Amino acid sequence: MKKTKFIPGETYVPVSGKVYDEEEVNNAIAAARDGWWTEGRWTKQFESDFKKFFGVRYVSLVNSGSSANLVALASLTSNVFGKRQLKPGDEYITTAVAFPTTVNPGVQHGLKPVFIDARLDTLNIDVSKIEKAITEKTKLIMVAHTLGKPYDLDKIMNLAKKYNLWVIEDSCDALGSKYKGKLVGTYGDIATFSFYPAHQITMGEGGAVITNNVLINKSIRQFRDWGRDCWCDTGADNTCNARFHWKLGELPFGYDHKYTYSQIGYNLKLTDFQASIGVAQLKKLPYFIKKRQENYRNLYKFFKNYEKYFILMKADKNEYVSYFGFPAIVKANAPFTRNEFTKYLEDNKIGTRNIFSGNILRHPAYLKIKDKIKVIGEMKNADIVLNSAFWIGVYPGIDGEMLNYVKKAIRKFIDRSVL
Ligand SMILES: Cc1ncc(COP(=O)(O)O)c(C=O)c1O
Repeated sequence: MKKTKFIPGETYVPVSGKVYDEEEVNNAIAAARDGWWTEGRWTKQFESDFKKFFGVRYVSLVNSGSSANLVALASLTSNVFGKRQLKPGDEYITTAVAFPTTVNPGVQHGLKPVFIDARLDTLNIDVSKIEKAITEKTKLIMVAHTLGKPYDLDKIMNLAKKYNLWVIEDSCDALGSKYKGKLVGTYGDIATFSFYPAHQITMGEGGAVITNNVLINKSIRQFRDWGRDCWCDTGADNTCNARFHWKLGELPFGYDHKYTYSQIGYNLKLTDFQASIGVAQLKKLPYFIKKRQENYRNLYKFFKNYEKYFILMKADKNEYVSYFGFPAIVKANAPFTRNEFTKYLEDNKIGTRNIFSGNILRHPAYLKIKDKIKVIGEMKNADIVLNSAFWIGVYPGIDGEMLNYVKKAIRKFIDRSVL
């Protein structure tokens, strides 16, 4: 990766970006030379490395984190799950401070999202409000670990056990985060990951779904691969040794298993080019996490001086965070608003982002489905997040020189605002 000279006030400090070297490029060239291009040896390699990293049984690569969420939820609509099969009208617990495609797969499958407010000091779902929202229709909890910070997995998993609920951990922002020493994504029934460039590792576009459950894995593969009943890898035939010996649906005996469809599926696979880049990126993950943590701590120490004006995230002794970004909330009594603050930063070439949707319920698409959702209490904190929260970058491409510039610019803005 070319390193350009940083010129304070001129070079943009992005919130995120790709960090790579020759290995990613060489792998992609090797994948091109293989001439295979669809899922192949690089996909297998990545899935095997990812399996080892998590200590899980099954990994499926998909073309985005959103596809990972879609296929994760869809997999639970299979009738192999009997009473636990997700069906239209069933409810799932989620939060209003959300990324849209954490919420959408349920809506797209006719389920009803049940929205719970978030906490301001974690930006995660307020777990204390979940139990009251559970009814006999509730079948699933599907929420994201916001910006890499784990939610209270003890509480969520206890509720899931008590009420027999599925848990899909949207871990798209949390690759490498741990809760009580165990990797986030290994608590629930299924976890999802995104490899878009903003995330801890990237393939350009890409995602993954992990599970330990053989039936869920089979269902994930079916929904991902056109809905077909066959579970052959791309390019393979007759893995079941009975390709022309099945009798399914109303098909004649022996109809080619490869073209037999048992789910209303999609094609969400990725290419071997993407997987080859991912193989190189995954090796760098420990370094990426360390850099992100260093940058986060640096900013945290600085913002601590201004706690009068910002709500910072509360550290929890149970967590180890692979930070996605550095979030904060401008307090109501601050002499500036979030928009004034982020506009100043952007004007000074410092990238900022809102916390995804803020309060998803206020977006045009979700106003249109008001009759298909349930909202538990008021979304007061989600509205505060919508109006007053932001995050800035901690990705490994940000070095000490850039952070010094960011801090200097913020100091200047605050000094000027309090005059
Ligand atoms: C929490 C969360 N879930 C899902 C996604 C979707 O991932 P993708 O952009 O790869 O579709 C994102 C994207 O950043 C995300 O932050």
